[in-house]
Amino acid sequence: MNIHTDKIGCLFDLDGVLVDTAVYHYKAWKALANRLGFDFTEAQNEHLKGVNRMRSLEMILDWGGVSKTEAEMLELAASKNAEYVEMISKMTADEVLPGTLQLLEQLKAAGIKIALGSASKNSGMILERTNLAHYFDAIIDGNHVNASKPDPEVFLKGAEALGLEPAHCIVFEDAQAGVQAAINGGMKVIGVGKQNNLKGANMVIKDLSEISVSQIIDLVNDKA
Ligand code: BG6
Ligand code: MG
Repeated sequence: MNIHTDKIGCLFDLDGVLVDTAVYHYKAWKALANRLGFDFTEAQNEHLKGVNRMRSLEMILDWGGVSKTEAEMLELAASKNAEYVEMISKMTADEVLPGTLQLLEQLKAAGIKIALGSASKNSGMILERTNLAHYFDAIIDGNHVNASKPDPEVFLKGAEALGLEPAHCIVFEDAQAGVQAAINGGMKVIGVGKQNNLKGANMVIKDLSEISVSQIIDLVNDKA
């Protein structure tokens, strides 16, 4: 028998899944690395996706062979964030990625619960600027968790906030770390982006316009 739709949850990553902020993170980190006298590639940047701010900084400093004190690291993270916030404070609803609004509307109409599961501490501003906030039954972001993806904390807290079993939840992710977090949490996962950056996902789509509510229901029920 099929799981009733009100027992199914969709947990959405934010940056790179619902909105095109991944490019702003990249720009701000790259500018910081350049100020420190080095650069990193787009391929390296893939490894930063889904990873929280301080862990991202550690990885970048490591790539540049630069070592900083704890206090200096906090300052560097704050300066990257200031530049990033400057960019996202100008965002508009036009930056919502293709298929997002349609899918969120269809999930609501089907009675499927919706949560945010993001590493970002800036999700509040982004959801407000892009008019997405009202779709969410629960919002779990970097302000609510300690562990960075691939730890499943953010998604387990999302499922809990929705009052649902992890196995009845589907995660939407654009980052390998996030795919792994979903798997670690015992959830199904739909990768958004390119297959080779999303290993282990149950299904990979280019963007949210490529998935329907009936496919989501089938996936939760192991019929996909
Ligand atoms: C994730 C991004 O969603 O949020 C990462 O993929 C980012 O690139 C992380 O580092 C933390 O974001 P913020 O906004 O708290 O610095
Ligand atoms: Mg992401």
